[in-house]
Amino acid sequence: MFVDVAAEPEKAIAVGVAALRAGSVVAIPTETVYGLSADATNQSAVDRIFQVKRRPGHNPLICHCSDLAMVNRYATLDPISRKLAEQFWPGPLTLVLDANPANRLPERTTAGLATVAIRIPVGFSGDLIRSFGRPLAAPSANLSGRVSATTAQHVEREFGDDIPLTLDGGPTRIGVESTILMVRGGKLELLRPGGLPIEDIERSVGLRVAAPRSDMKIVAPGMLTSHYAPRASVRLNAIHVEPHEALIKCGSVSVRGEATCQRVYDLSPDGDLSEVAARLYSTLKQTDEDGMTAVAIVPIRNDGIGLALNDRIARAAAPRDLMPE
Ligand code: TXA
Ligand code: MG
Repeated sequence: MFVDVAAEPEKAIAVGVAALRAGSVVAIPTETVYGLSADATNQSAVDRIFQVKRRPGHNPLICHCSDLAMVNRYATLDPISRKLAEQFWPGPLTLVLDANPANRLPERTTAGLATVAIRIPVGFSGDLIRSFGRPLAAPSANLSGRVSATTAQHVEREFGDDIPLTLDGGPTRIGVESTILMVRGGKLELLRPGGLPIEDIERSVGLRVAAPRSDMKIVAPGMLTSHYAPRASVRLNAIHVEPHEALIKCGSVSVRGEATCQRVYDLSPDGDLSEVAARLYSTLKQTDEDGMTAVAIVPIRNDGIGLALNDRIARAAAPRDLMPE
């Protein structure tokens, strides 16, 4: 079942809460990408997420909360994390925090780690969690290793009837996943670049963001393997395009070979990075729909959200024998 969040907001919340209470998986829009959500405190509901997503069981989920009071039930915030939370939540920032040992989430949700990844999302999904009263475990709504969904139609195409309820909030605003950060020993470690630019984070706390230390127990899987991948092969930093390839470009500058290539996709005619982010995943999925077998992508600026975009397209281009499943 689909419910249009903008047309019927009360109904969307009511059916969403009922389905979550019943232990179902519900696809929800967030400001970043669509999530496959379930009651984070219900082990069998969370099991179902892993099944439909075909996600490796050792990979923990992000818990989405409605407010800091809910976060405090499950985790403790060090002073730097608290400052980041106050400044950037609700928003596209996930913090890996020490789990509250007195109130553990099921092992399926956290993969038995002593930490828990938490964020407070913007808008409808925050309202849904508030009405539900419990955190929602929600990975991105795509098969493991594939490109994340930024529309309800993407969710439908990927999962069909495997998901009983999709709350359709239209295209997501940001279009790439949240930035994941962990504070350890007073240092900021970036586990995944995402929708919140690290420049904003560094300015807020006056500290540099660094790469994670190598003793991280869990490295976000997208950090090692092919991930976010369309079916087509992907070639990066293209300054020309071959006749057998499709071109993904960004702005009006013409690219050598463009006139004779398979197809041209323009992520943002004005070269606007936010628009590039909002359209990247739907464009990668479109190349699949259009039956493209090889895609060349022009260089994309690496500042602001560009860091996340370059991270994702590099993983889309990684050798496929490193796929997680
Ligand atoms: O924007 C987002 O973050 C979206 C929306 C739905 O909120 N969610 C999302 O979830 O991207 P997912 O499961 O696709 O990515 C979450 C990442 C995984 O790579 C996982 O390994 C990492 O977070 N993660 C979860 N718990 C962790 C922990 N305790 N320590 C380190 N990494 C963790
Ligand atoms: Mg994901």
